[in-house]
Amino acid sequence: MPEADTMQTVHSILHGGDKPLPMQREDFACATSLLKTHTGIMLGNHKADMAARILGMQARAHGCTSISAYLDFLRRTSPFASSASTEQPPQWQAFINAFTVNHTAFFRERHHFDILADFVRQRARPVRIWCSASSSGEEPYSIAMTLMENGHTAQAGSSALVLATDIDSQAIAQAQRGVYTEERVKGVDPSLLKKYFQHGIQGNQGKVRVKPALQACVHFQTLNLLQSPWGIEHQAQKFDAIFCRNTMIYFEQATQIRLLERFAPLLKKDGLLFVGHSENFAGLTRSFALQGQTVYRVVA
Ligand SMILES: C[S@@+](CC[C@H](N)C(=O)[O-])C[C@H]1O[C@@H](n2cnc3c(N)ncnc32)[C@H](O)[C@@H]1O
Repeated sequence: MPEADTMQTVHSILHGGDKPLPMQREDFACATSLLKTHTGIMLGNHKADMAARILGMQARAHGCTSISAYLDFLRRTSPFASSASTEQPPQWQAFINAFTVNHTAFFRERHHFDILADFVRQRARPVRIWCSASSSGEEPYSIAMTLMENGHTAQAGSSALVLATDIDSQAIAQAQRGVYTEERVKGVDPSLLKKYFQHGIQGNQGKVRVKPALQACVHFQTLNLLQSPWGIEHQAQKFDAIFCRNTMIYFEQATQIRLLERFAPLLKKDGLLFVGHSENFAGLTRSFALQGQTVYRVVA
């Protein structure tokens, strides 16, 4: 279907039913441009109906009578335009949270955790890992379990073994709570489940909670990969490995290259970068060499 017709169809679907706010073609163009500029996330035309629903809800939540009025409000309060602060105004945080895709799982792409286990056994202590798009916590807790199983523990008074960051403040809050349904931890090895999680009772039946020893290994904070500086560059210790999986796939190539160039100086000698199963950055930069399946080694 031609682009204009797709938008028209979206428009008419949205006009039926319970009177959602109409989204004009230029509203969609404006929203995708704001999203790309502030987060790097690219939204294709096939996401127009989802965008209309989200924008309509956000507009109403902020007391705007149209999507275009809401987008004007966002533009006027753009955090990038106003100050050097990395803190997002609440309306911006809500806009960003609404568009992020948080799909994740414990020990997703299991081969990475086998590689990580071998790698950290040979590294000097303390190891430090940056999980840079940590979503709701399954990934950084999987990393932390791998470290603990291989003899690394959080030391009182020193920084956490895993720095877990994400642009989505709700995902970070959920990760910090460390509470998951039993369904979510189905793939976790039973011995690890017993060691690192406690089962909920009474009102929390069917849920598990991360035990304090595991939680102490991970420090969570919101961080936008597009912001500069990140505010973590000053830390004396560099990282042994960086995980940035299934995230750069939403970014255009120029953004991917910029990020790869910014990751490289944060890694210790021979540090590793883990990326998602469908991400291929070979040839994009000289700072990394392909080491194995979707794992890159920093080149000094
Ligand atoms: C599909 S999830 C991947 C989660 C995890 N890395 C994994 O592979 O299971 C993508 C995550 O990237 C985050 N994200 C998207 N744009 C971001 C940005 N500019 N800075 C930091 N995180 C971002 C989203 O909030 C989301 O939690």
